Amino acid sequence: MSDFKPGLEGVVAFETEIAEPDKAGGSLRYRGVDIEDLIGNVSYGHVWGLLVDGRFGPGLPPAEPFPVPVHTGDIRVDVQSAVAMLAPYWGLGQLLDIGDEQARNDLARVSVTALSYVAQSARGVGRPAVPQKEIDKSATIVERFMRRWRGEPDPRHVQAVDAYFISAAEHGMNASTFTSRVVASTGADVAACISSGIGALSGPLHGGAPSRVLHMLEEVERTGDADAYVKGVLDRGERLMGFGHRVYRAEDPRARVLRRTARELGAERFEVAEALERAALAELKARKPDRVLATNVEFWSAVVLDFAQVPADMFTAMFTCARVAGWSAHILEQKRLGRIVRPSATYVGPAPRTPDSVEGWN
Ligand code: ACO
Repeated sequence: MSDFKPGLEGVVAFETEIAEPDKAGGSLRYRGVDIEDLIGNVSYGHVWGLLVDGRFGPGLPPAEPFPVPVHTGDIRVDVQSAVAMLAPYWGLGQLLDIGDEQARNDLARVSVTALSYVAQSARGVGRPAVPQKEIDKSATIVERFMRRWRGEPDPRHVQAVDAYFISAAEHGMNASTFTSRVVASTGADVAACISSGIGALSGPLHGGAPSRVLHMLEEVERTGDADAYVKGVLDRGERLMGFGHRVYRAEDPRARVLRRTARELGAERFEVAEALERAALAELKARKPDRVLATNVEFWSAVVLDFAQVPADMFTAMFTCARVAGWSAHILEQKRLGRIVRPSATYVGPAPRTPDSVEGWN
């Protein structure tokens, strides 16, 4: 019983060379490189390369023309199902049976196709796909993503999405990454690993409810009084969305870089967000002086995605696009480790008994 750790909190299950948030210093480094040095200097496709290959090139290949096979009205579900279907469609081998290079190339192909599915699905059913020949192969992965979605995107929107994708590409042993690694550890194909990661990400405690910050901004815009809004939320015993973090005891570094991006791009909601953030931090400090409750990634990613005209119901799908990089890196690392993940549970159910003692036995 003494080994039991609910939620595996604090349990070290793997060694990784990919990334782990620096809790006290409030920094996030991908293979040693600070995300602050990446955003604005390289594009997301190269960050995929850094995470998976440990170097910036060759990164991700262009997506193959491939229509989304599923339209449920929920982009995240469409992408999760479509990714799972890639394995039989492409005849992907199982990790146990293929070499590292093949696995890496399968991951690149699946990653870029997942992005392409999100873009096509966002474009909407019935709208003709942007012809493949109009998608410039020399463009960055995010330019191609935005072009597939919108035809001719605003370059500042491309910049915003690129910054968001980089900041959300990897974050250590979170629930979806752990899930992908568990599936990889069974020797399954990479599409199974990534689609299971997408499923884990969809829960509201992970990536499934990231649009709540926008409701707060709308409310402050409506009333024009950030202080009163913040006090009202806290007086009702509710939480301010986009503040606090399980891991960081300093400002979430992703909030820092995305705040900078929002400022540099002139996001429409920058000022209201800053006013809300100022009011929230002051009030949280006054009410919880012993606890660092700083801004987390969710707050400024909502502002940046909103600026890029990404609808709130697409935020989880955007998170998926970003995180395929981290999942891919971990799946490959797990393949190399080659050991199945199989924790234990302490049995606390009924003592041995006969079936006639169980309700419903006739
Ligand atoms: N607003 C108000 N009070 C808060 C907040 C907040 N955002 N976050 C924590 N607190 C308070 C709690 O009420 C608690 O007070 P108490 O000790 O008097 O009960 C204290 O701070 C500690 O809170 P915990 O729940 O122990 O903090 P934990 O580390 O478990 O939670 C979490 C982290 C879930 C992110 C929390 O801060 C929260 O709910 N934030 C709001 C939701 C949010 O922004 N989610 C996105 C997180 S980013 C990400 O996951 C990618």
